[in-house]
Amino acid sequence: MPQIKTPAELETLRSEILASRDPDKPCITLCSGSACHASGSSDVAESLEQELEKQGLNQEVDIRRTGCHGFCERGPIIVIFPQKICYLQVTAEDVPEIITKTIKEQGIVHRLLCDDPDMGDKIVHESEIPFYKHQTRLIFGSNAKIDPTSMEDYLAIGGYSALAKALGQMSDTEVLEEVKRSNLRGRGGGGFPAGRKWEGSRNAPDKTKYVIVNADEGDPGAYMDRSLLEGNPHSILEGLTIGAYAVGSHEGYVYVRQEYPLAVENLNIAIKTAEEYGFLGKNILGTGFDFEVKVHQGAGAFVCGESTALMTALEGRVGEPRPKYIRSNIKGLWDRPSVLNNVETWANVPLIINRGADWFSQYGTEKSKGTKIFSLVGKIVNTGLVEVPMGMTLKDIIFKIGGGIPNGKQFKAVQTGGPSGGCIPESLLDLEVGFDELTKAGSMMGSGGMIVMDEDTCMVDVARYFIEFLTDESCGKCVPCREGLRQMLKILNRITKGRGREGDIELLEELSETAMEAALCALGKSAPNPFLSTLRYFREEYEAHIRDKRCPALACREMISFYIDPDKCRACMICMRKCPAGAVIGAKKTIHVIDQEKCTRCGTCFEVCPSRFSAVAKISGEPVPADLPRDQRTIIKKRQKNE
Ligand SMILES: Cc1cc2nc3c(=O)[nH]c(=O)nc-3n(C[C@H](O)[C@H](O)[C@H](O)COP(=O)(O)O)c2cc1C
Repeated sequence: MPQIKTPAELETLRSEILASRDPDKPCITLCSGSACHASGSSDVAESLEQELEKQGLNQEVDIRRTGCHGFCERGPIIVIFPQKICYLQVTAEDVPEIITKTIKEQGIVHRLLCDDPDMGDKIVHESEIPFYKHQTRLIFGSNAKIDPTSMEDYLAIGGYSALAKALGQMSDTEVLEEVKRSNLRGRGGGGFPAGRKWEGSRNAPDKTKYVIVNADEGDPGAYMDRSLLEGNPHSILEGLTIGAYAVGSHEGYVYVRQEYPLAVENLNIAIKTAEEYGFLGKNILGTGFDFEVKVHQGAGAFVCGESTALMTALEGRVGEPRPKYIRSNIKGLWDRPSVLNNVETWANVPLIINRGADWFSQYGTEKSKGTKIFSLVGKIVNTGLVEVPMGMTLKDIIFKIGGGIPNGKQFKAVQTGGPSGGCIPESLLDLEVGFDELTKAGSMMGSGGMIVMDEDTCMVDVARYFIEFLTDESCGKCVPCREGLRQMLKILNRITKGRGREGDIELLEELSETAMEAALCALGKSAPNPFLSTLRYFREEYEAHIRDKRCPALACREMISFYIDPDKCRACMICMRKCPAGAVIGAKKTIHVIDQEKCTRCGTCFEVCPSRFSAVAKISGEPVPADLPRDQRTIIKKRQKNE
């Protein structure tokens, strides 16, 4: 393994790597991120190796196991270079046909291509798939090109050239000024300008300073940081080292949750390799700059993503927040100046150094520059990770990239910003995503979670769900958060169970105000957001629950009933057989009824009733129509005859 001693040596090595690679040699890239792994990408990889060997092609074709490609809904994904043919939902059984047809005969396996929703056709190339076509994948795009465990792959796409430029051609002040000029804002939460944070640490008198990657990523449904760490760990290490140089730090940490084993594995490999090549350690690239990185695995507490709690946990103590009398970039880890940035924030740094602040700020809005990766989940056709320029509208993200709402349902709201973010209604779908725009709408950018909800979602229950999550995750150190959230949850629970009282909304508002004013950290301060934003846009749902004991979305289990419409029932006995509670009474040729005492409201009868009958109805806020007496129920034969 070559020790790179100067920036010039790095460029020589890069040229050698590129010269040794034949761009026309077929290469099969296979998404091997955690999501595709779970859907069988390891079996596909094994099958690819065996089949190439069997067909005597193993020397003529490369296989590259890459990180996440983003289109998780349709994984495992393979892209075959140089043509960039993209196959979706590939299984091990598909492999022999792929090798024969596409590798040997230069043909296409049509059934594995993406359908074109507009033209009713098939799409051959990844870049033409609507999910990818409308994205700007400045950061995430590299994931699909490299094996994250291969330094050669990273160098082949220009890896560590930004580090060489920063250390070799720029002073630390110039690096700092470039990042400040780019107006890069933190991607993990509040959107604080990274350059200003760095500058504070740099100017702090203490000589020992730390730089830290926040890879805690505790938001339910969010996995963009995991996918970046798994798929392109060197880009984060490179950004971190550049940051360390600008700040004057020689020691860095990556705080990553233990539930991310593949990210930890690939990160450790990347650190080891970077040390061997001389991109980390002493006298990096012969410039005299020393920097080392350690990985710390967190135990998966959401609060440990908060800056002061994270630093306390790094110190080996219980991960609880502490008061921020002095900012942590001045007095952070072990009371030293410490720059904490999110994974994605660090990943932006090499791009800014390589291409410059002006290039970077051509993307985005006036106050939110660059791109942002969102994890698009929930009731959406194309679940996955998407990277878009700041300023793209929610509508474009959800409908053009996400493919809209499945099963012909109506869009209702999108929850952004993680558990303490907010829900944005349909009337604001034209909102351009940016830090300030989302905050103004009562939500926030957070780290990029985007949970789409359809008409069947009860917004009171959504608030209840997130408050429950935050109650569980509250560390309990301060009363407004520990007790306040518990009380909020108690009230929301009773509202969604049909026991809401007049005055509950006002009580929730009061508790929210107290938490926002008096909680110790941002977990408690922002926790009321799910309630406040749903109240702001969906107040009538709260009122319907409390006053009419009705859940308009027909979602709150204890506020709904199922009944069988005697005019529609065909006595097919399907619901009777499937009901797990034995609550459906009926017989052949006898219209069925639901015993309301026994019914657990699981909805099985509703789901299994054939759509041509649609005899099972779901109701809320009204009494269940009285059952027909038994003698009148045996009319099915007569009715069928009449029809
Ligand atoms: C309860 C809580 C959890 C947080 N979790 C994360 C997290 O998982 N990842 C993250 O980058 N920031 C998280 N943050 C934000 C961090 O406190 C901090 O602002 C951020 O890491 C700074 O990096 P940035 O400026 O690059 O965004 C969390 C904040 C709070 C209050």
